[in-house]
Amino acid sequence: MNNSIYLINRIKSIIPSHVKPKFLNEKDLLNWNKKQGYLSSKSILRKNKALKMQKILKNSGIQKLYINCSFSNYKISNPGQEKVLNSSKKYVINFEKDFSNFIFSGNPGTGKNHLASAIGNYLILHGKKILIITIANLMSKIKNTFNKNNESSESLLIDKISKIDLLIIDEIGIQKSSEYEKIIIHQIIDRRSASKKSTGMLSNLNYQKLHELLGERIIDRMKLGNSIWLNFYWKSYRSYVKIKK
Ligand SMILES: Nc1ncnc2c1ncn2[C@@H]1O[C@H](COP(=O)(O)OP(=O)(O)O)[C@@H](O)[C@H]1O
Ligand SMILES: [Mg+2]
Repeated sequence: MNNSIYLINRIKSIIPSHVKPKFLNEKDLLNWNKKQGYLSSKSILRKNKALKMQKILKNSGIQKLYINCSFSNYKISNPGQEKVLNSSKKYVINFEKDFSNFIFSGNPGTGKNHLASAIGNYLILHGKKILIITIANLMSKIKNTFNKNNESSESLLIDKISKIDLLIIDEIGIQKSSEYEKIIIHQIIDRRSASKKSTGMLSNLNYQKLHELLGERIIDRMKLGNSIWLNFYWKSYRSYVKIKK
C-alpha cells in the first residue's frame, strides 16, 4: 500500500472522534505538506536575514551602548540639539543622492556617538555597509598588517576600508596625530572621496584645533561636496541624567 494512504488510514483509526484531522485524503495531505514546507522555508529565510543583520551590525563597530540609538530617542532641550538632530536626519535622506562628509565637533557626552550611531543604524537598515571605528583602532589595524609579512596587506586594508559606504572615525584628537597617521588618514579620505564614499569624523576638538591637528589637506577633503560641520556645545547628557536622578 502507498505510504501516505497507509498513514491516513492509520490516523483515521486512532484519532478520537472530537478531533478534526488536518487531512483526510492524499490530496489534502500533499497540500498540507506543501504548506508546511513553504512556512518553514519562509521561517528559514527570516532567520537567515536576522543572522545576516546581526553580522552586519557586529561588523559595523556600533558598540552595545549605541545599538538602540535612533533619531527618535535623541532628546531635544536646546536649539543646538534640534539643529544637529535635523541635520543628521537630512544627512541620511540625502545619503543616496550624493556623497557628503560630516564632522561632529564638541563637548563630551553631548550625543555625537548617539547621532553617528543613529545614522549608522538607519543606513544599515537601508542595506548600506558602515563602520564606526576609533582612530586608535584604525591605526592599530593598519600597523598590524605590517607583521603579516605581506607587502600589500596595508594597501589591501585601505582598499577594504575605501569600499565601506560610510566610514566614521571616532575620538579624533584624544591623542596627538603623528605625521604617519596624517598620511594614512589623508590617503583613506582621498581614496574614499575619489570613489564618492562618505566619511564622518567625531571629535572633542573645535574647528581651529582640529585644523591644527589634521592639517589643511585633510580638512579640505572633508569639506568636499555638501559636507556638514555640526557643533555640539552644551552640557554633557551624562551629567544631566545624574542630576535628574
Ligand atoms: N540629547 C540626547 N538624548 C538622549 N540621549 C542622549 C542625548 N545626548 C546624549 N545622550 C546619551 O548620553 C550618552 C553619552 O552620549 P554620547 O553620544 O556618547 O556623547 P559623545 O559622543 O558626544 O561624547 C549616550 O548614552 C547617549 O545615548
Ligand atoms: Mg563619543
